[in-house]
Amino acid sequence: MMDFTQFVEKIKSKYKKDELKIFNAIECFDKLHLSSLGSNDSEGYQVFTPQFIVKQMTELVENDILDFTKNVLEPTSGDGAFTTYIFQKRLETISSNFEIESLKALSTIYSIEMDKELIIKQRSNIFTLISLYLKKQKIEVDKSYFDMVKCIIVSNFMWAMFNSDNSMEGMIKEVAYKMPNAEKKDYISLEFPVWEISENNITMHKEYFEI
Ligand SMILES: C[S@@+](CC[C@H](N)C(=O)[O-])C[C@H]1O[C@@H](n2cnc3c(N)ncnc32)[C@H](O)[C@@H]1O
Repeated sequence: MMDFTQFVEKIKSKYKKDELKIFNAIECFDKLHLSSLGSNDSEGYQVFTPQFIVKQMTELVENDILDFTKNVLEPTSGDGAFTTYIFQKRLETISSNFEIESLKALSTIYSIEMDKELIIKQRSNIFTLISLYLKKQKIEVDKSYFDMVKCIIVSNFMWAMFNSDNSMEGMIKEVAYKMPNAEKKDYISLEFPVWEISENNITMHKEYFEI
């Protein structure tokens, strides 16, 4: 079993207060809490994509989605109907070196949601998914693996507002803006985490992307 403690400590030592809060709030549910599965219908006015449609849509681009070297971005991700499905599908393709491969699989999934409650729920849904998968497959990992997973979730599952401005002027556009600032029309461009993951080291730096 790999020990991820030193990587986790290095990453967490750079955390600001809010990142530490996000890390500590990630929990493992007994099962996925997806509104589309009927476990929470408090959102009454919104439509969350049911699993059979998620399945059909992702199958159309399956080869791209299953390739961990390719980035996937869900710009209006709700509680994670698509991100949990894609992560599950990626996990199912791993036949060896599960710890490192699963971290790589997660590290290229990016998620943006402007509703704070939903992104909080989604982070725990992703954590629940990997925890239940390990249990089901009887894969043993060190405790520090779970903290490493949380570090990736903290960075990649972002409370932010996707730039839905369709104006073609200027062409280059920022992908998203940080919340809660964007809600007050204080538009701070969102940086995206880029992970380097190997047995010897795990690091992350941030980059600006444009549409
Ligand atoms: C109808 S729900 C769908 C959620 C998920 N994609 C699904 O299929 O179940 C749309 C979500 O997009 C979010 N949303 C809408 N506009 C957004 C924007 N500009 N940036 C980020 N999130 C946005 C809403 O808060 C809501 O959770």
